[in-house]
Amino acid sequence: MQTLPGFRDFLPDDCARRNYVFARWREVARRYGFVEWEGPVLEPTELYRKKSGPEIVEQLFNFKDKGAREVALRPELTPTLARAVAAHERDFKKPLKWFSIGQFFRFERQQRGRLREHFQLNCDIIGEEDFAADIELVALCIDILRAFGFTEKDFVVRISDRDFWTDFFRNKNVAPDRWDELLQVIDRSGRESPERTAQKLGKLAAVVFATLKTGGKSEKLNKLVEGLAGRGLADFVSIDVGIVRGLAYYTGVVFEVFDRTGKFRAIAGGGRYDNLIGLLSDGSVSMPAVGFAMGDVVLGELINVTLAARNQIQSAVASKNKIDIYVVIAKEERRADSVKQIQQLRDGGYRVDYPLTATKVARQFQAAEDAGASVAVLYGDEWPQVKIKNMVTGDQGLLAHDGLLAHLQALSSLSS
Ligand code: HAM
Repeated sequence: MQTLPGFRDFLPDDCARRNYVFARWREVARRYGFVEWEGPVLEPTELYRKKSGPEIVEQLFNFKDKGAREVALRPELTPTLARAVAAHERDFKKPLKWFSIGQFFRFERQQRGRLREHFQLNCDIIGEEDFAADIELVALCIDILRAFGFTEKDFVVRISDRDFWTDFFRNKNVAPDRWDELLQVIDRSGRESPERTAQKLGKLAAVVFATLKTGGKSEKLNKLVEGLAGRGLADFVSIDVGIVRGLAYYTGVVFEVFDRTGKFRAIAGGGRYDNLIGLLSDGSVSMPAVGFAMGDVVLGELINVTLAARNQIQSAVASKNKIDIYVVIAKEERRADSVKQIQQLRDGGYRVDYPLTATKVARQFQAAEDAGASVAVLYGDEWPQVKIKNMVTGDQGLLAHDGLLAHLQALSSLSS
């Protein structure tokens, strides 16, 4: 039996890496004053049909539950967030600054950087229409990536504005009911052949291609870059009107984050969606919103190919899965005494391991080394003294067994 295509087992090292990613996500989101929340992983399929856009609806893991409800594993968080906020907004002061970490499911075509399950960090500001919220979110996205050890040489946030294109279509007298479809075509233009894009754009092809080439002009986006420049973050962003985003609910600024080499799919993406909450609450609550999500898959790939980020994760992971103390039981008569002591050491906050059954002493020392123990404590002929060995320097000494905890607490190299 194997995992389903696009699903992963997380073996201990993978779990440690994932937890490291989650820890950085949480740490920086909290630095910006965001609070954590969570929604359900299973939702009514209708929630995504309403406004996520055709691409994501095609990719749903959906089925009928035993109560004959049409349900779907969540492909993204934003519709859930909009629903939850519409239902509970009275209980919270505005703007809401919420983040969430969870698993998402999309029946994607197999390709590099895209799986059928992935984890995302979502950060959203709800109830603030001022542009300051857009700037704050782009800055947060940049600072999260900086916390992994990336610099402006490693990634770039490409920012754009849906209004740029809707103004463009209006000027070209394109009927508003075609705008969504045309935005999807522009969104895919980077991934599809120019011929195919041209065919879909029809008469607009030449002028759209020309605009994509020259980049277009936008006062709003210049202001966004200025806002980031004021924080010293201008080198991390570039204006690129070719970014329109696949999801249908965006209404203003949109952005995506890519590695500088352009080798990988997007690391993160987001934007303003001022109408979604109104739409999902049938107009009873209307609130502006802006947010982004960062996935774990491309982020992990970029960490692997970026020396500073890779070194940082490796040393964090190595220290996370290490134990502090290995108790070597050299004489089985001492097992009861040693287990009693192990209980106290663990109560003291130390990570302690020992052999569950009688094992040769040499193998126990090997296990101590493999587990990364800083100290080995040997229970044997020396009782009521124990032998203590510093696993880094090799230094050994004898100690009264009841003085062990105090002795270890005095050692600065061990932390609880
Ligand atoms: P999205 O661009 O669809 O946006 O996804 C955000 C990020 O999730 C992507 O940049 C990518 O890193 C990761 N991701 C998406 N699909 C996959 C996949 N199949 N495999 C691996 N990683 C994937 C959204 O989901 C919006 N709801 C973001 C948002 C939040 N907008 C406003 N607030």
